[in-house]
Amino acid sequence: MNPAAGAHAPYDDILHAAFERRYREGEDSWSREPAMRRLVPLLLERLARPGGHVLDIGAGRGPDTVELLAAGHRVTATDLLRLPEWDAIEHRWGERVAFLRGDITELPLPPARFDAAVDNGVLHHQDPARYPAYLAAVRRTLRPGGLLALSLFSTVEERPDGVVNRADDGRISRWFTAHETRQLLGEAHFETLALERIPRRLEGLAYLLVVAAATDEKDGQ
Ligand SMILES: C[S@@+](CC[C@H](N)C(=O)[O-])C[C@H]1O[C@@H](n2cnc3c(N)ncnc32)[C@H](O)[C@@H]1O
Repeated sequence: MNPAAGAHAPYDDILHAAFERRYREGEDSWSREPAMRRLVPLLLERLARPGGHVLDIGAGRGPDTVELLAAGHRVTATDLLRLPEWDAIEHRWGERVAFLRGDITELPLPPARFDAAVDNGVLHHQDPARYPAYLAAVRRTLRPGGLLALSLFSTVEERPDGVVNRADDGRISRWFTAHETRQLLGEAHFETLALERIPRRLEGLAYLLVVAAATDEKDGQ
């Protein structure tokens, strides 16, 4: 169980245990999902200035961290778990990368520090009641106008409503519509700049790949 679990346990514990088991048993299909690897290139199109500082939320085995480092950025990568691949990435990239283990909403990250954040497959596993707190925590870490690159489960055809699924181990996977994605981000003071729907290897399912910018709260987004 997660020793850092706070007031919102036990879902924290469920999530930690579910991911720990999937990585341990090699059931982390997302680490090999081509659709997810298209998110960072979308972000890099808009992060023109090299030498930016990017937060990789739920970095997993680190594929996006490595791509961002190779593109000339510094990366702070976080995850609930420490993955074995982190050692080699630290060794290769030295001071340009920092890894932190913990829940993104609980880590003591400095405010307004990052030019961009990547959330590749993390938000859609959180407790839906905590999406506002989660997005507020992410937004706090971004400098004004900072970018959020987000991938969310979806379906190949846009549906009228999203769907919440629960695996046998209790882990939530939520499928989003494009409409509710824009709405959720707007309510959290992010403006959606780009949104693409990319089919997954699983028939009928897709990812929404989104790039959004943190807006001024006074804009009433
Ligand atoms: C579907 S995996 C994606 C991993 C990686 N982003 C990738 O593209 O391969 C989601 C990751 O987010 C981590 N995670 C889930 N909830 C988290 C949270 N609240 N804070 C930090 N990491 C979290 C999990 O441990 C897992 O490694």
